[in-house]
This record gives sequence, structure tokens and C-alpha cells, in this order.
Amino acid sequence: MIGGIDSGRRGEGRTQRTEKWGTALAAHAVELDARFGPGGPARLFFSPGRVNLMGAHLDYNGGPVMPTAIDRGTFLAVRERSDRRLRFASTTEDAGFETELPSVQSERTGRWVDYPLGVVLEILRVAGRERAPCGLDVLFGGNLAVGAGLSSSASICVGTAFALDAAWGLCLDRMDLVHAALRAERGFVGVRCGIMDPYAIGLAREDRLLWLDCKDATSEFIPFGAGRLSIAVADTLVRRELAHVAFNERVEQCRLAFEGLRAGQPDAKCLRDIRLETLEEHRTRIDPLAAKRAEHVIREVGRTFAARDALLSGDATGFGRQMCLAHDSLRRLFEVSVPELDVIVESAVACEGVLGARLTGAGFGGCAVILLETAAGPFVRDRIVSDFERRFGRTPSIEFYGGDAGPREIAGPLEAA
Ligand code: GLA
Repeated sequence: MIGGIDSGRRGEGRTQRTEKWGTALAAHAVELDARFGPGGPARLFFSPGRVNLMGAHLDYNGGPVMPTAIDRGTFLAVRERSDRRLRFASTTEDAGFETELPSVQSERTGRWVDYPLGVVLEILRVAGRERAPCGLDVLFGGNLAVGAGLSSSASICVGTAFALDAAWGLCLDRMDLVHAALRAERGFVGVRCGIMDPYAIGLAREDRLLWLDCKDATSEFIPFGAGRLSIAVADTLVRRELAHVAFNERVEQCRLAFEGLRAGQPDAKCLRDIRLETLEEHRTRIDPLAAKRAEHVIREVGRTFAARDALLSGDATGFGRQMCLAHDSLRRLFEVSVPELDVIVESAVACEGVLGARLTGAGFGGCAVILLETAAGPFVRDRIVSDFERRFGRTPSIEFYGGDAGPREIAGPLEAA
């Protein structure tokens, strides 16, 4: 089902439904003891990743975005300790980490633990250090590709915030947890990201696209369910070493573009507000690279509104068309695509039943998201794999994702759904 805005309330608290990843989650709880040695009972949490369908690189420019949570994410197994030690380990990373409450290490390590550590510092700041009553052992893991544009970092950060809140009985507001995750990534880890990822994960509702206007953080949910249409995610398996540096560069170029253009449009508060005519009139005043970035942002704002209108009027084809235009702009003007992504998008859109395709997340490798008619799935997968193998001599990973209801404690039954 697509179309129509929904403002209904979401379910909160512990989930009792059979979890899709029940068996893997149960194994994750067992692994906690294997990593840390025997201890008290484990509590389990799940925090999804997200795909963004429209509004690429708009969040930090104050524009609108259209992400949705996916049924792949971070698993957290948490148990209380009788002392004040805080220990982190991961099923996918080698080194663990340990610190002690209430002071807690506040220097970055340069490793994956900076994400949860940043969240701990934020939660203690918001709630007060005295409100962390016990140490914790936390094991991270899950089934979300890391560094692939599916927001693995926000998934960890939001999941950590929810798990700490539950384990320490803090009862913080949902938005406090989302903002703790955001500040950890921006302030502690040092990525100049916008608000999209923690909002998309923290506010998620199953089978809804989040319409988030990043200028004032207002949001709505648009039904976008399973059925006739599916979302496929094709992972190039390309990971750029310094993607966060390249990302921060784009943020800086957009900032410079806005600084240069705002004189031509004094009412503008952010790059999203700048009109195309203003850019054309003042283009020569700003750095050519900044002008290209600005052109992407300004046109992407228009495309994202057009995509929203298409969706609300039940025009999935029109929505898909905007996705394809977005990819072209990300390739030519924002320059965050790579040949592997372009080949996937080209192969996908050449298939009958594909409505649109584009890179998702920051780019520089990672994944393309494909909107397609469910029945076309097997053919589209074969076509992309064979085109990709012919060109690059290796196989991309292609999966069909369902939606997700957002971060939650898993209270069983832990069986495979
Ligand atoms: C990354 C950032 C987001 C957003 C996207 C690009 O995922 O974390 O805040 O800027 O890139 O749309």
C-alpha cells in the first residue's frame, strides 16, 4: 500500500511478537557469556538500520528526506554487573573496551567503541552521572552491513542509548535518546552528519516512510508497505577507507556555497532555502566545486517534494523516476558515486518492473537501493549480478529488505519467525 499520511501512535516498550531474527538473537545472548564469562541474565535489544529513498545529502543542508527503517540491524546483549565496570565487546570487531563508572574514559580511542562510548558520555550528561547505578557488560553484533550506507553507526548509537536507558531504568524521553545518539556521532566521533539517521531509526514505524523536514525537524509518516512493491538493496562491497573525511568535505563545500550565496538571498537560513535563480545569478562568485554541490542540493529539494507528491497520489512510477534523477545528480554534481554503484543502477533500471534506483547513504561505495515490483525480484537480481560480474569480476550482494518498527527490547519468544 502506498499513499496517505499517517499520524497514528506507535507501539512502545518491550515487544512480545515472534522476532524475525529470534534464533540469531538467542545465540547472541549465549555469546555474551562466552565473551565475558558467566554472569547474570542477559537482556536483548534490536536497533534497525535504514535506507534513504529520497533527499540525498539534504539533512545537513536543512532539506527534506524520506528514509525508512529496515529489518536488519544491531543486536545488543546487556547484563548488569555487581561492580561499576563498563565493558564492551563486539562479534565483528577484535578488540573490546573497558572503563569504570562514574568518571568514564572521555578520550576517543579511534576504534568502533567510540560510538557506544560517546553515547554513554551523552546519556550520563543528560541523566546525571549518579543515575547509572551499576556497571554493564554489553555485546554488540547483528546483521547489518557496516560502512555500507545503511546507517550502521546510527543503529549502534541509537541502540546503545535505548539499551542504557532500559538497563539503568532512566525512563528518558525517546527524543532525548535520539539526540544523545546524534551528539555522540557528531561531537565525540566527529562526523558532521545531519539529523536523518538517528531520527529515521529512533522514530521508525513498520512499513512507513518517514518524511522528515530537517529545517525544523517536523515529521510525518507515509504508508509504504510490503506487497506489490519491494525494496532491494545491492551492496557493491566497496568500502572507502576515509569515507567520513570525504563526507565532512562535502558538508564543508555546502557550507561554503551557502556562505557565498546568502548575500544574493538574505532571507535564506540554509542552503535548502536558496533558489535556483539565486545560484545561477551568483554562480561565478563562488568556488565552482561548491556551485556544483549547491546545484545538487537545490534540485534535490525539488525532486524530494515531487517524489512525496507522487507517493501521496499513488504514483509509484513518478516516485521511482525521481530516485533515478537523484542518482544521476549524485554522480555528476555531488560526485559521491563509484563505477560499481553506477553499473548496479544502470542494470536495475534497464529491467522491467524496476521503478527507480539510486545510491543510498553518503555514497563513496556501499549500497544502491532499488524500488521494484515484487514479482520482478528474481529477474532483477540475476540481471544485476551478471552485469556486475562481467564488468568487475566479482559478485555484489543483493537482498530484499522488509520494514522495521524501530529500536526495542526483545522479550521473546526467541524463535525464528
Ligand atoms: C550519511 C549521514 C547522513 C546523511 C547521508 C547523506 O548517511 O550520516 O546524515 O547526510 O549521509 O544523505
